[in-house]
Amino acid sequence: MDASEKKRNAAKAAMEFIQPGTSLGVGTGSTVNLLIEMLPEIRDKIDKLVSSSKASTALLKENGFEVSTLNEIGDYDIYIDGADESNKRLQLVKGGGGALTREKVLAAAARRFICIVDDTKLVGMLGSFPLPIEVLPMAQELVSRQMLKMRGQPIWREGFVTDNGNHILDIHDLQISNPLEMEARINRIPGVVTVGIFAHRAADILLIGGDDGVREMRI
Ligand code: 5RP
Repeated sequence: MDASEKKRNAAKAAMEFIQPGTSLGVGTGSTVNLLIEMLPEIRDKIDKLVSSSKASTALLKENGFEVSTLNEIGDYDIYIDGADESNKRLQLVKGGGGALTREKVLAAAARRFICIVDDTKLVGMLGSFPLPIEVLPMAQELVSRQMLKMRGQPIWREGFVTDNGNHILDIHDLQISNPLEMEARINRIPGVVTVGIFAHRAADILLIGGDDGVREMRI
């Protein structure tokens, strides 16, 4: 089974959690795009929708959904999003698509965070996937120097501007043995908007698409 089929199965499994009247947050990326394309099947169950990126908002609108702002809906029921890596504690690395800041905000406001991945994303230790950090453009060099001190190799995602008008640094060669500590430490560097470690607000449920179907993990 290819990765896309595994992602589609995980996305389909996430739809089972959507009950009538659900307010739903939608993340960003290829896995979530598969979810969005299936959402019209359960349109009647969705009360309100919020989205973590301009790209997801555009796709939701193409599929006939109205998209609210988080300020309009406040705390809401379920956030569904993909990830670049997850460990067994459902702590994540996210931001491969560059939408990490709005994703972190939507995850924080959700009563339940369901993460949908294919089985290549489950890892023993976070950090093989280069860690995305959204930075203010004027702080890019400062943050890069701080990351070098932490033994990471920062690479500027050249030509990419986030939905918030900022830049992304992808940090290679980090071994994230203590995600909680590293998330807090990187967040303290002036100029960091968001680090792509989701440990303080980890997922509640991980749905992993694999060759034998979808496995569910909870903390
Ligand atoms: C976007 C993200 C995505 O969830 C992550 O990159 C996974 O993407 P995909 O579903 O395409 O594998 O964090 O900022």
